[in-house]
Amino acid sequence: MSELAGKTALVTGSSRGIGAAIAKTFAANGAFVLLHGRDRSALAAVEAGIRDAGGQAASYTADLTRPAEIDAMLRKIDSERGPIDILVANAGGAFARPGLIEDIDPEEWNASIAGNLTATFLTVRAVLPAMKARGSGNIITLSSAAARKPYPVAPVPYAAAKAGVQIFTQDLAAQAGPFGVRANCIAPETILTERNRERIPPERQEALVRDHPIPRLGRPEDISEAALYLASDRSSWVTGVILDVAGGAVLV
Ligand SMILES: NC(=O)c1ccc[n+]([C@@H]2O[C@H](COP(=O)([O-])OP(=O)(O)OC[C@H]3O[C@@H](n4cnc5c(N)ncnc54)[C@H](OP(=O)(O)O)[C@@H]3O)[C@@H](O)[C@H]2O)c1
Repeated sequence: MSELAGKTALVTGSSRGIGAAIAKTFAANGAFVLLHGRDRSALAAVEAGIRDAGGQAASYTADLTRPAEIDAMLRKIDSERGPIDILVANAGGAFARPGLIEDIDPEEWNASIAGNLTATFLTVRAVLPAMKARGSGNIITLSSAAARKPYPVAPVPYAAAKAGVQIFTQDLAAQAGPFGVRANCIAPETILTERNRERIPPERQEALVRDHPIPRLGRPEDISEAALYLASDRSSWVTGVILDVAGGAVLV
């Protein structure tokens, strides 16, 4: 269980949900995990859980839509923990309601682009130069099944933002590969995070299961295991991939 021993991994949006699961899996596999979010008490709970399990972690806060906050966080990380080997740009969310394109609120559109595509861009932009200078690094981004195929009641701003994350990651892989930096993207279908358990009524969860050839919804650990593969040397010749972790619901 030491595949990531000696590595420092920044997992954005790890105060809860998928990011917290990735952080726990990376810590259990030997990484020093830099937790990130905005909710300090949620971060403290994740950090305590990792330490109680024998892992190593420290917590940092920044609003990832604000470049100055990202820069300040990275300066703090650099002085306290040194270079970042692995970045999981996981923070994001669906900041728009599903519905017709003509009904989309421009504010929800902008929030979806800012909170997913721009936040991923700003984070990668800030972390990449040091990775290239060191000649090694590993970046994992988060898309969504929403960006893998059209769906009549999709949250379109979110889907468009995540589709942007996908081509951004592939351009990143093409540019940074010669500098020893890999970049891959995970596209999850519905994952039963604590928030989704609350948001999606049980009867809707049962209906969603029927869309999956592997008949269940996702667990945060389904994503953290995929992230571990992409973060480790087991995938050393894999870059620019969009990895559907979707129980077979996305066959493209
Ligand atoms: N859950 C799913 O079914 C699913 C499916 C497909 C894709 N995804 C993607 O997977 C990623 C994680 O999803 P999740 O369901 O685990 O989300 P979640 O439970 O809502 O957690 C989101 C995390 O991102 C952080 N965050 C969001 N916006 C931020 C901002 N502007 N600045 C800093 N931190 C920010 C939150 O921090 P605080 O709460 O501390 O503020 C939190 O840690 C997202 O990119 C999401 O789009 C999720």
